[in-house]
Amino acid sequence: MERIQNGGPKANGFATRKKLKGIDQLAWHKISYKALFGLLFLTPALVQYGLGLPFWCYPIAVAVLLVPIFGTFMVVFNRMCVAENGTKSTNVKRFIAFNDPCLASKYANRKIPMIVLYEAYADGKLDFRCDVLEALENREQFCTFELTFYHIKFLLCNFIPEVIFHSKNQDAEQVCDHYDRGNDFYRGFLGPTMIYTSGVCRDESETLEELQFNKLKMVGEKCQLKEGERHLDIGCGWGTLVNYAAENHGTYSTGVTLAKRQIEWGEAVASEKKLGSRSKFMCMDYRDIPSAKYDKITCLEMAEHVGIRKFQSFLAQVRDMLEDDGIFFLQIAGLRRTWQWEDFIWGLFMAKYIFPGADASCPLGWVVTELERAGFEVHTSVTIGVHYSLTINGWYDNWMKPETQAAMTAKYGRIVRIWNIFLAWSTIIARQGNSTCSQLVCHKNLNVYDRLKLFKVKSK
Ligand SMILES: C[S@@+](CC[C@H](N)C(=O)[O-])C[C@H]1O[C@@H](n2cnc3c(N)ncnc32)[C@H](O)[C@@H]1O
Repeated sequence: MERIQNGGPKANGFATRKKLKGIDQLAWHKISYKALFGLLFLTPALVQYGLGLPFWCYPIAVAVLLVPIFGTFMVVFNRMCVAENGTKSTNVKRFIAFNDPCLASKYANRKIPMIVLYEAYADGKLDFRCDVLEALENREQFCTFELTFYHIKFLLCNFIPEVIFHSKNQDAEQVCDHYDRGNDFYRGFLGPTMIYTSGVCRDESETLEELQFNKLKMVGEKCQLKEGERHLDIGCGWGTLVNYAAENHGTYSTGVTLAKRQIEWGEAVASEKKLGSRSKFMCMDYRDIPSAKYDKITCLEMAEHVGIRKFQSFLAQVRDMLEDDGIFFLQIAGLRRTWQWEDFIWGLFMAKYIFPGADASCPLGWVVTELERAGFEVHTSVTIGVHYSLTINGWYDNWMKPETQAAMTAKYGRIVRIWNIFLAWSTIIARQGNSTCSQLVCHKNLNVYDRLKLFKVKSK
């Protein structure tokens, strides 16, 4: 097998010009929703009847049994799909070097469930014999997408309660824990632009910085940013878009984020560029943004943190703050509706380690419906999932440089290896469509809105 060193030439299928791999392990069209709903509602009735409980106990029985029945159904259905694709393999040791004898004997001739693989890798119980991305490009030879009871426990004890509540305290804790880890950590893979969202690629030879610059330029054009306009960027990260808009379009741009260290970074760049009052940052939850009017509002991959339950009230808030002739630019990542097991297992990995509390990874159709319900018209929607793959691949190349790995491991430990998996696996996930990303240009759906002005935009 060709050995590609970390930080060496890109192992990504795009760059190596290898035939792109990918085995579809469909789940969505195989699952019997009738059987699932039948079990969810009939089993409690049978239990109630069997125990001789009164009629009014039925809703309680449904509530108590809902999750165990759902969990068992999904695990059994998953096992059937996994078995169909085969669990035997003599190729595991070709890609994996075991440091733990128990794991070595258990998986000598059997593919490793993905969750076992990444936890063991993070713990140093195994290593890849080649570049992580190169190994994962061949993952169908040594791993399976098994849903385990650990996943179900995580769904029950963490994911579902977080989806239900999404309180300010919970969001502050999760978001700050994550984004305030250390600016050097993020600089290690994002590079100097410090943009933690998909870039836009015009030519495969472009660098990560060019991808991000293309994106900033495109946002400016799509929003028709003009001198003196009031611009709000919700979930501004390290403030690169805020400072870019103020510097290049002469806007009065305000960025909002929950993470203090991001603001420190954004303010330092603004003062270096002498942007004065044109660039401003507020460290607060989006729900606390003081009520004011803005000509343009941007939100790049922050809405995922808002969550499904609060999404409509978030959009109502954006609508309130937007001038009637304003533009709302939303960049949002999501999962596909026609899900496969890998989507599910990757989504749970991301929820645990990468974006805790970010649950609105919904299909584009859901986002558009929510925007329309909130009184927006969607002018354009562009899918940029494959641009995300190239962006993440750029992050991966930065992160896997030996000097970055050494410095980060010394300071941050185990999480560095989790990030290796995140960046390698997500390069593939975004390329093969399990997850995607959309840019939506929206405005208030008012009769008087000057829709013609939207067609004057010309991107080079
Ligand atoms: C994936 S980052 C995107 C950053 C930035 N838009 C960019 O393009 O680099 C998500 C951002 O949303 C912010 N965020 C998440 N939840 C938030 C909340 N409840 N209120 C305000 N900001 C939030 C995070 O602090 C982070 O800056």
